[in-house]
Amino acid sequence: MATVKRIGVVGGGQMGSGIAQVATMHGVDVWLHDLDPQALSKASSSISSSIHRFVSKSHITQAKGAEALKRLRFTSNLEDFRLADFIIEAIVESEDVKKDLFVKLDKIAKSSAILASNTSSISITRLASSTSRPRQVIGMHFMNPPPVMKLIEIVRGADTSEETFAATKALAERMGKVVITSQDYSGFIVNRILMPMINEAFFALYTGVATKEDIDTGMKLGTNHPMGPLELADFIGLDVCLSIMRVLQAGLGDNKYAPCPLLVKYVDAGRLGRKRGVGVYEYH
Ligand code: CAA
Ligand code: NAD
Repeated sequence: MATVKRIGVVGGGQMGSGIAQVATMHGVDVWLHDLDPQALSKASSSISSSIHRFVSKSHITQAKGAEALKRLRFTSNLEDFRLADFIIEAIVESEDVKKDLFVKLDKIAKSSAILASNTSSISITRLASSTSRPRQVIGMHFMNPPPVMKLIEIVRGADTSEETFAATKALAERMGKVVITSQDYSGFIVNRILMPMINEAFFALYTGVATKEDIDTGMKLGTNHPMGPLELADFIGLDVCLSIMRVLQAGLGDNKYAPCPLLVKYVDAGRLGRKRGVGVYEYH
């Protein structure tokens, strides 16, 4: 495949906006789409402030930051993606909603375009089977926050072609990231290991083993993690954590992946973490 010149990112939440930023900072023209106009305006300000942060720390020059912003366009119209070489989906972690989107993207995107998903856990093979181009569908899993985290986990679906894999790896490396490759099993590599730990931290809190602060301090100072597991869950989004646990439980069929009732209760109450101002902790 020729070098990717233009990408489309669907979903302007914390991941989609970060992915769009990383791409534009590495010389790619980017269209960012969200159904919600408020999400697009929030994405625009968070990208500007993150680029400003890189400039103020002298990681990039002011001119480079300004060029990156010029390469970025926001749109409420998915049809604008018809000229994209590569499309990255970063919408809500729901298989049905993602499949509906892949059906639409398959119709809109040019025949050579690759359709990638930033899903945390959902089967790439099943997303691919909703399109007429399963050889050109792949998982491209960025870590949060995308502008800072070095890793991209690439997930091969059952029919993903070598050309699609090579083009995705080349794009990830052009974005300055380190690539790991996973076969298509629920949660892939990172979330298969990370989410049961976060879920276990909720069980520790739920069963009264310790306070939330002591659980987080224990893991931060005891195992040198940058954030404790409950703080990290708030950062990721408790809705995203719960969706991933449900995919692990359904896909790997073992009781050890059952979501903690406290995690379920927080999500039911709308305590989704930092993005809502309240999760395990409160944010002002
Ligand atoms: N844009 C630009 N720069 C940013 C930034 C952003 N959005 N966020 C942080 N930074 C930069 C800061 O400017 C700072 O740069 P310098 O080192 O040059 O000073 C550096 O990153 C560290 O930031 P801070 O000092 O503000 O804060 P921190 O030290 O607490 O780091 C953090 C913040 C990088 C998020 C760190 O807490 C961390 O690594 N946390 C764990 C994150 C993690 O585990 N992510 C993976 C989640 S799992 C996942 O993503 C998969 C999934 O499917 C759920
Ligand atoms: P988010 O809630 O911050 O953003 C999702 C965005 O998608 C919202 O702005 C919403 O308006 C938009 N959206 C929903 N349906 C849409 C549709 N049909 N068309 C266009 N836009 C639509 O979520 P997020 O945390 O950015 O997660 C997005 C994806 O990335 C999920 O699949 C998640 O599992 C994955 N992911 C999340 C993290 C994380 O730490 N939060 C890390 C890696 C991967």
